Amino acid sequence: MSISILAIESSCDETSASVCVDGKIMSNYIANQTVHEKYGGVVPELASRAHMQNIVPVVDAALKTAGCDLSAIDAIAFTQAPGLIGSLLVGTQFAKSLSLALDKPLIAVHHMQAHVLANLIPADKPAFPFLCLTVSGGHTQIVLCESPGKLKVIGETIDDAAGEAFDKSAKLLGLPYPGGPLIDKYAANGNPDKYKFPEPQIPGLNFSFSGLKTSILYFLKNAGTSNVFKEEFLADEAMQKKFITENLEDICASIQNRIVSILLNKLKKAAQETGITNICLAGGVSANSGLRKTFTALGEKMHWKTFIPAFEYCTDNAAMIAITGYYKFLENNFTDLSISPSARAEWG
Ligand code: KG4
Ligand code: ZN
Repeated sequence: MSISILAIESSCDETSASVCVDGKIMSNYIANQTVHEKYGGVVPELASRAHMQNIVPVVDAALKTAGCDLSAIDAIAFTQAPGLIGSLLVGTQFAKSLSLALDKPLIAVHHMQAHVLANLIPADKPAFPFLCLTVSGGHTQIVLCESPGKLKVIGETIDDAAGEAFDKSAKLLGLPYPGGPLIDKYAANGNPDKYKFPEPQIPGLNFSFSGLKTSILYFLKNAGTSNVFKEEFLADEAMQKKFITENLEDICASIQNRIVSILLNKLKKAAQETGITNICLAGGVSANSGLRKTFTALGEKMHWKTFIPAFEYCTDNAAMIAITGYYKFLENNFTDLSISPSARAEWG
């Protein structure tokens, strides 16, 4: 018997639906919300409203692309946590209604676990156990995966996430939200060793990015001459702007270089401590070209087998919810209609 899963993702500002048959992704439809652009960040109320508008056409498109009728679906998987509560409510309620109407089982999926398990989508997938560095706009974690159902967080950020470090740095440079992809773009032509930003000394496998942000702030206020606090910063606003305009590519490359080194030094430590050599990336920030390149080079040097999901499975998408749902289906891990979403969810 083949197993068909319909999956729904609505944790933040992307409405997405996917169909997966026997662990193979047949469709992955994503509606991006452009309404937030002018506000410099996601506005929760607007996100919920846009999910309400998008969810029916997105699910229809995913079913159509997969050539699948609703009656052929064996279970409905949905993102239950974590995320914006209003956004999660839309996807959860939709999935529950479908489950009730079709009399098909319901599978609750943790968004961060799904980012990790996106690595199980391609045919060439990591063998267990593997380590995964998950880097997104809200999270930065090193996850030890022993099986699809046994995932443990062994390191995480104590303040900002890697995506926030990119976005907040970009904001200081006057770039629009989300600034991560723009830093990536400008960094491509810059010198990553031109400016030095400090690497935080955090014990164990945890990360910290808030010091980097402060250091960049002082660096810009001093027009690049220093990154320490001064009673009187060395540059006025016009000088700061001129310094940024004239050196944008080198500044972006140097910031990206430091964020990548913070991430990969901890990942290297985790691999050394666990002895695991199957190593994956996941999450929206794994779209960053500097991170991908340095990760692959480090893997070759360390004799790791490295894995990075395809771009469309790195940022928020329902295919990762579908693949996680598929493995939960195999484990008979279903939920009932009393389930409600949760903005936060501890695990590991
Ligand atoms: O996983 P994701 O799509 O959404 C969350 O669950 O947070 O990650 C979004 C984050 C944003 O902070 C965005 O700036 C960052 O991923 N991002 C990038 C790149 N593409 C997306 N950061 C750096 N370089 C990129 N190319
Ligand atoms: Zn995400």
